[in-house]
Amino acid sequence: MGVTVDEPLVEALLAAAPAVVEAPAAAEKAEIPVVRRRGARSVSEWIREAERIAAGCASMDALARAIDEFGGSPLKATCENTVVYDGIPGASLMVIGEGPGAEEDRQGKPFVGKAGQLLDKMLAAIGRRRTENALISNVNYWRPPGNRNPEIDELAVCRPFVDRMIEIACPKLIVAAGGVPAVSLLNSRDGIMKLRGNEYTYTTPGGYTVPLIPMLHPAYLLRRPQDKSRAWRDLLLMEKRLGELEA
Ligand code: URA
Repeated sequence: MGVTVDEPLVEALLAAAPAVVEAPAAAEKAEIPVVRRRGARSVSEWIREAERIAAGCASMDALARAIDEFGGSPLKATCENTVVYDGIPGASLMVIGEGPGAEEDRQGKPFVGKAGQLLDKMLAAIGRRRTENALISNVNYWRPPGNRNPEIDELAVCRPFVDRMIEIACPKLIVAAGGVPAVSLLNSRDGIMKLRGNEYTYTTPGGYTVPLIPMLHPAYLLRRPQDKSRAWRDLLLMEKRLGELEA
């Protein structure tokens, strides 16, 4: 299948991008609360609880409600909203990012800040839209204070829900946007620069197997537009594999 990506669109976008986005404001940095409250349960007990709850969810609506009600992440205490997914369950493409930032937390939707707007334009360049044919979610559902990376425990309690979402939505291709989801889903010691450009296979504990492609995170591209040719290659690989998987 021929590649029909609108390269000038993405080029223009990346050229217009500000040098730095989503850096925490100084006041916010100074006041990052350290939250370590999970009630009486240990992390492994919360993981088992998440597994039990996720296994009982048969639809995306039920899963989204269950995630919103789940009490196992300490991040819930410091954020405004649970951010679960946006887009079309059942779409061939599922993009999984790192987790909500400030704007996502305000709106309760993934990838709606500056990086999300770039993601939308990058996806549109290969004919994918969250309103039509893409599902968008994250490996963590609650915004970490000060936009820090989610910690291993915080990711671990979300993972049963991530897996269940994949099993319910049945994507043909998962794209891990950025190092956090790529490293976490692939359980890899390598970073995103080594992982991207390749295809992997992801299998959920329930036995759903799906190809996974890591891509550079759009927030990274906004900070380093000079890496746009790498991002471009990520998009071409996504488009090529989606074409094959949908044939
Ligand atoms: N970055 C992510 O990885 N996910 C979002 O939802 C927003 C920004």
